[in-house]
Amino acid sequence: MDKKNFTQYNDLIYSSEELEKESWDRLVIGATKSKDAFHTPCIATLNQNEVSMRTVVLRKAIPSERELRFHTDIRSNKWLELAQNDSINALFYDASERIQLRVKGKALLHFNNEITSEAWNKTTLSSRKCYLTDFSPSSFALAPTSGLAEHIEQENFTMKESEAGQKNFGIVSIRVESIDWLWLHHSGHRRAFFDYKLDSFQWMIP
Ligand SMILES: Cc1cc2nc3c(=O)[nH]c(=O)nc-3n(C[C@H](O)[C@H](O)[C@H](O)COP(=O)(O)O)c2cc1C
Repeated sequence: MDKKNFTQYNDLIYSSEELEKESWDRLVIGATKSKDAFHTPCIATLNQNEVSMRTVVLRKAIPSERELRFHTDIRSNKWLELAQNDSINALFYDASERIQLRVKGKALLHFNNEITSEAWNKTTLSSRKCYLTDFSPSSFALAPTSGLAEHIEQENFTMKESEAGQKNFGIVSIRVESIDWLWLHHSGHRRAFFDYKLDSFQWMIP
């Protein structure tokens, strides 16, 4: 997939259906290319009634399922927040293309199942480090620290030893309910809304 083949939104007549499909193509690129702007969305959850946001790495986009996935520690605040309230938003902005996607959905938490085992088996030693802290993410510390034992911080441990991290490894799956697409252009912005609940793809005034 090459972004160069994507629509020029100001000089072509294109349908909102084409645009919807293309938005998912962009998300698939975001999940697979680490340098892509869509690789690191901002994720919003609710902590009681307060908004809570953070950056994550987009690991998978599955257009046929309208699903996005990211990995996280099941001891993290975001996981606990989503267990209480499954409302979730993902915000993407590609500055070079001037495209914003506001993705809204419901979270499904995967832990200790086939999906997490398959993903865990593909993780590298270095990314497994994140799941090997003795204390939970967001625990306060007496000094600046990664929270990792020194041999783990130095990556002086085996793949077998790293298996201990699997008990903390979770996957958040976003079941997408709508996408608000926005393209900025000096001659006039464009905006569209893809509503999967109502099965309607419509243009909007930006
Ligand atoms: C570029 C970048 C990528 C990140 N990717 C992830 C990720 O994929 N999963 C994750 O749990 N945290 C990731 N983080 C850390 C989170 O932004 C956040 O600081 C941490 O997970 C704690 O969030 P919480 O307290 O809301 O759970 C990333 C941070 C940055 C800056």
